[in-house]
Amino acid sequence: ISQPVKDVDVEGMISVAHRGAASYAPENTHAAFQKGIELGADFIEADVHLSKDGELIIMHDETVNRTTNGTGQIRDMTLEELKTLEAGSHFHPDYYGEPIITLNELMESFYGQVGLLIEIKHPALYPGIEEKVAEVLSQYPATDSVIVQSFDIDSLKRIHELDPDLQIAVLMKASFVPVSLWQLDELTSFATYINFNISAVSKRTIDEVHKRGGKVLVWSKKDKRLIQKAVSYDVDGIITDFSRWPVEEDIQV
Ligand code: G3P
Ligand code: CA
Repeated sequence: ISQPVKDVDVEGMISVAHRGAASYAPENTHAAFQKGIELGADFIEADVHLSKDGELIIMHDETVNRTTNGTGQIRDMTLEELKTLEAGSHFHPDYYGEPIITLNELMESFYGQVGLLIEIKHPALYPGIEEKVAEVLSQYPATDSVIVQSFDIDSLKRIHELDPDLQIAVLMKASFVPVSLWQLDELTSFATYINFNISAVSKRTIDEVHKRGGKVLVWSKKDKRLIQKAVSYDVDGIITDFSRWPVEEDIQV
């Protein structure tokens, strides 16, 4: 981890460590979030699900299969069961023993140290998850450094209703794009950010979000050309698996 990508000027842009610094440590664990902070991320991004007993669980998938030594759906398991699982060694043996963490634990560890971009995953699977997320976040003053995002617009509207002070980010699926101007009017009425996959958005759309006072984060693969594209599109920030910005040795060109 050394030099930033040459000839890509990312000055002033928000850097978001996707699922923590997921290229460097097991995604969505304390170790990955800590790594993101060490490497200079402005925000860490974390995905949230709901356990059988109503605890908010930090994990990307709705099952524990890919990233732990267990099997099954998060919604069918209690926190106690989830805490017996090991979520580090799928990434590297050095991380053996890394536990699954909860949203409460994420907030306790990292609120105030780094920005938090919290994604509600598949809210349709978890009736009432918005109330649970709003309840946990209400224990911490809402600031520009805490953002709730989702692909589910109704879920975000519910979060906004529950706490209008929370910053909201709409995640736009490739299938939602191109987005119409009236949709942008509606979305920017409650969301501060409209976030896109850089592969599926035009500069014109980003300009239209900006005209409405909104901001744009884009997420991207490990591809220097996509980062360059994001910069040339004048986005407000980039979400990648890298700590701060991709470095030369990580770039696949
Ligand atoms: O922040 C954008 C990104 O997290 C959405 O995709 O599947 O990695 O949660 P995913
Ligand atoms: Ca995510």
